[in-house]
Amino acid sequence: GTVHVINGPNLNLLGTREPAIYGHTTLADIEALSRAACERHGLTLVFGQSNHEGELVEMIHAARGSLGVVLNAAAYTHTSVALADAIKAVGVAAIEVHLSNVFAREAFRHHSYISSVARGVICGLGSEGYRLAIDALAASRVTPAA
Ligand code: DQA
Repeated sequence: GTVHVINGPNLNLLGTREPAIYGHTTLADIEALSRAACERHGLTLVFGQSNHEGELVEMIHAARGSLGVVLNAAAYTHTSVALADAIKAVGVAAIEVHLSNVFAREAFRHHSYISSVARGVICGLGSEGYRLAIDALAASRVTPAA
């Protein structure tokens, strides 16, 4: 099985970007922990990041038929019908992840276009959320969610 971890705009700057909110973990650290989590489950990891909405749409298309997508759409979470439609279009299981607790932040971060098409949502747990999402997708091999 393959898991696609897809990261949206500005997440390439993790480590230096607003460390009071996002911490010092870099995207390379997140890739490494995602790879380790996938290896524990015998899964193949495809890891990507883009600052461009259309490229993120294409990354979701490329995940068709995979075990699932772990999606941190970053700011596009709050704006993108296209990303939500892509998840529905390919019918892939998606787990929405945010490093920060978006509900403890500005009101504009409280709405997500992704949540209603996601199998689950994890936020506020930092990079640990990615590991938890991968563990959940791995578990779904045995007990598929409805
Ligand atoms: C984020 C939360 C979003 O509101 C924000 O735009 C981001 C990162 C997070 O991981 O906490 O860029 O998705």
